[in-house]
Amino acid sequence: MIQRPRGTRDFLPDDMEKRRYYEGLLRNVAKTYGFREIATPIFEESELFILRSGPNVLGELYAFKDKGDREIALRPEMTAPAIRMFVNEMSNDPKPIKMFYFGQCFRYERPQSGRYREFFQFGAELIGNPNVESDAEVISMAGAMIRSFGLKDYKIRIGHIGVLRQKVSDSGVPKERMAEVLQKLDKKNYDEATPLLKSMGVTDDAIRDLYDLTETVGGPEVLSKVPGEAGDYLRRLVELLRVMGVEDPEIDLGVVRGLDYYTGMVFEAEAPALGAEKQICGGGSYTLSELFGGEKVFSTGFAVGFDRILLAAEKEGQTYEKEGIDAYVVPVSDDVRLESAKIVTMLRDEGLRSDIDIMGRKMAKAMKYASITGAKNVIIIGAKELESCSVTVRDMVSGEQKVIRIENLIEELKSRQ
Ligand code: HAM
Repeated sequence: MIQRPRGTRDFLPDDMEKRRYYEGLLRNVAKTYGFREIATPIFEESELFILRSGPNVLGELYAFKDKGDREIALRPEMTAPAIRMFVNEMSNDPKPIKMFYFGQCFRYERPQSGRYREFFQFGAELIGNPNVESDAEVISMAGAMIRSFGLKDYKIRIGHIGVLRQKVSDSGVPKERMAEVLQKLDKKNYDEATPLLKSMGVTDDAIRDLYDLTETVGGPEVLSKVPGEAGDYLRRLVELLRVMGVEDPEIDLGVVRGLDYYTGMVFEAEAPALGAEKQICGGGSYTLSELFGGEKVFSTGFAVGFDRILLAAEKEGQTYEKEGIDAYVVPVSDDVRLESAKIVTMLRDEGLRSDIDIMGRKMAKAMKYASITGAKNVIIIGAKELESCSVTVRDMVSGEQKVIRIENLIEELKSRQ
């Protein structure tokens, strides 16, 4: 038997129905915020992602040479593709441009619960307006998306990568080693950060200062400790968010984000119930267009880890009720099969979800199958009833059964929807 590749999943009909339902919730929220959907290829030139994150990113990519000797990679995320598309096709469009996307991404990671090699992101990018209102739009939308799932236990943490970068740079860390340091600070891994910083000649006082900043965590009141423009910016952001549905974000200047293209505000949302892989959403403001051959344009955006946010909803005990079908048609004997096919077609033409027994099952077995597939009604077609242009309809919830004229069947089924 051939197994599916490591870190991937199959989605059975029950899974897909549920996933489409939740995907629909996110899509609706994005539309209510005035975002419009885009789609980009699942594979891109590897260069796109290398330009974005440096050659180290190759380690996490599914990259290969195609038959024309081109370096190709499956997308690990969709911000770079979205901005490439903007530079190629939309750079003259009126700003801001508000786009959203949903699709699979691929990262060569060590799989574990909530971390896959193929996973799904629902993301959004707001291009072309470098101000606090754009950041408020995207954080507020991320909050609305999380709430649309009915999640109760989650936290939105907001930071500012500009403040931290400045501090690290002021402490004497050379530019080319910035990413290395930020990575350690992101994980608050001070045991490893301290010797690293010391080896770069950073003084004990500067190190303490740096750690103080990454430990600036709490309600908006901690912003009094954040100096200069970035502090003012975050204060205005929090004020806006308060009237936009995100009332109690946590300020955390230690939020660094793994991807190194962010320039200002950065944010993450986490669902603690998920344990190690608890980050359900991440984003921030950045510029990428100039790297891809366009003009420098400020953008801000985020992506929700669709698989993780679903897991979080399940962990909170949310269940999804299968949609089922409106009618399952059972011909009692072979001589009524043609008439049964006509009736099921009539129901389908009316938009009723309908199925018909094609296995020639006996009544008891057909009923069992109907119940498993979640049919709300079973339409039993017998020769005797047909003579008087009628069928028997069984309500699968109450078990009640009644004879109905075919001309009234659609109305009856619609009234039971
Ligand atoms: P990211 O933080 O790398 O950001 O990914 C966004 C979300 O995708 C994460 O918060 C997480 O929930 C989910 N995720 C990441 N890796 C995996 C995985 N291996 N398995 C399951 N879920 C995963 C970005 O990708 C940026 N493009 C976000 C962004 C948009 N920034 C600006 N615009």
